[in-house]
Order: sequence, then C-alpha cells, then structure tokens
Amino acid sequence: MRNPKLSPNGKTDVLQPTTPMPGAKDIGLDHRSSSSGLAKISPPESAPAPKMYQTENDISRASRIELNALMNQRLADAVDLQMQMKQAHWNVKGPSFIALHELFDQVDEAIESYVDLIAERIVQLGGIAEGTVRSAAARSRLEEYPLTIGDGLAHVAAVAKALSTFGHEARNTINQAEELEDAATVDLFTEIARGTDKWLWFVEAHGQAAK
Ligand SMILES: [Fe+2]
Repeated sequence: MRNPKLSPNGKTDVLQPTTPMPGAKDIGLDHRSSSSGLAKISPPESAPAPKMYQTENDISRASRIELNALMNQRLADAVDLQMQMKQAHWNVKGPSFIALHELFDQVDEAIESYVDLIAERIVQLGGIAEGTVRSAAARSRLEEYPLTIGDGLAHVAAVAKALSTFGHEARNTINQAEELEDAATVDLFTEIARGTDKWLWFVEAHGQAAK
C-alpha cells in the first residue's frame, strides 16, 4: 500500500519544474524530447521550462525533470533539518546534557551526508541543486524549530517531530521515484528513510523510559 501524498502539515508534494535561475543561459541545456513511454509533461503556461543540463543518462528528460523537482523539495527539508539538529545540539540543557549534546551532533552529521547525497543525485540527472538556506527556508516541510526551549526532553520531542516528518517525506519520495522508474533514487531514499528511522529511535529512547 502506498503512503498518502500529503505531508503531515497538509502540503502536497511539488512535482512542478523548479524555477530557473534568473538570466540563465540556454547553452548546454538539454532540449531533447522524452523517448520513454511516459506521458510528456506539460508545465503550466506560467511555469518557465526548468534549466536542465544535457546528459547521456538514459532516464527520460521528462522523468528527470520530475525527479529534479522532487529531490529539490527533499533537499530543502534536509538543509532545514540539519540546522535544526545543530540548534538542538547547541541549546540543550539538563542532566542528560552531554548525551543529548553529542547525540544531536551525530544526527547532524548523518543529515549532512543526506544533504550531499540528494544534491549530487539532482546534479547527476542534469538538474541544479537548489541548496541555499534561503531556498530551504522557502520550501521546507518541517515545522519551525522552537527557539526558546532548553530542557532535554523538550528538545527530544522537537527533534523527534522533525525526524518523523523527514522520514515520512522520504518514504513518499521512495514511492514517487518508483513510479518514475528510477531505482537508484528509490535506493537512495530507502537508505535515507532507514537511517532517519534509526536516529529517531536513538532520540526517542531518551523519553520512552519515563512513560
Ligand atoms: Fe558542536
């Protein structure tokens, strides 16, 4: 059974082509039409064609455009998540300080590796990784991280919520990449979902003993 396409906060998945960089030159862009059996994408009149580089990669251009938009959405989530982990790492207080301070830093390092994997897969498929903090802030599906909390269990709850949302979106991405017949992206997000579930366990274990 497939996961619903709605995110926990009710936003629908974005499969529209991403906005090209202002003034981007067309030289080197991939204008080949799709040779696969997939229906050709017809972006809305108002949406400019996404900038895509030419590549010998045999995934159809139509699929690569959709994968590009899908993975740039996940990249925004991951960039946001990474800095949320640092926010927790820096500000946590209480008797479990050192354990949580070090754990949140380990989660940050794992998420940083996901950021790199997602961004580089976007580029491998001829797209442009839109990984700036401003892009992430505009697109992220994650809830705002509370800035004023200090207590360890409050950070455990906030970090668990962020990891849960990211894991949910990673699972949706597995399903969508499967529909686009890109086994490598399915594999990438399977790895990300599995890792995110592991870190969620590490974090939630701090609060479960008290319940
Ligand atoms: Fe640090």
